[in-house]
Amino acid sequence: MDSAHVADDLTRVLYTPEQVTERLQAVAAEIDRDYAGQDLLLVGVLNGAVMVMADLSRSLSIHCRMDWMAISSYGSGTQSSGVVRILKDLNTDISGRHVLVVEDIIDTGLTLSYLISNLRSREPASLEIMTMFRKPEAQRNAVEVKYVGFDIPNEFVVGYGLDYDGRYRNLTAVGTLAPHVYS
Ligand code: XMP
Ligand code: MG
Repeated sequence: MDSAHVADDLTRVLYTPEQVTERLQAVAAEIDRDYAGQDLLLVGVLNGAVMVMADLSRSLSIHCRMDWMAISSYGSGTQSSGVVRILKDLNTDISGRHVLVVEDIIDTGLTLSYLISNLRSREPASLEIMTMFRKPEAQRNAVEVKYVGFDIPNEFVVGYGLDYDGRYRNLTAVGTLAPHVYS
């Protein structure tokens, strides 16, 4: 059953909008410093990274461009297999460019490791990753993530671009879903 307000469906708020904004600005300051004097291409992974991309890019002081990819990972149930299909490729030729992949969340990192090897084959000048959220499992994988918003517990979270069955992306807070949502 639907409740009146999206936010009523959260059991626990992990991060308030203010905490998200504050952390994002700190990450943006790091990126400003690291890429000073360079032209940066932000590559967002649809759909989850839409919010992070919008807020991160507007917190940057350096010049940047944005492009998008959409991928779907083959796998059974909720576990991603690491076999990935590109649904929408970049419009930009990234060879010789400084590329920063912008992600909403990294769980196992399998999806991302495929994406990174695909992008690396296009010979960018540099290739780094920024993710807003990272789960513990990701650290067991080889994917090196340069910028992390928050390391979170191994729970399913929604909000700030993250969805459950397509919903909750528009929540400004991030949290766990109330049981009445599933039942
Ligand atoms: P892997 O395991 O390949 O998968 O890193 C990353 C993708 O899994 C989804 N995912 C989540 N989506 N809340 C969500 O809304 C979560 O807690 C969550 N954990 C993983 C997401 O699509 C991500 O890109
Ligand atoms: Mg994603």
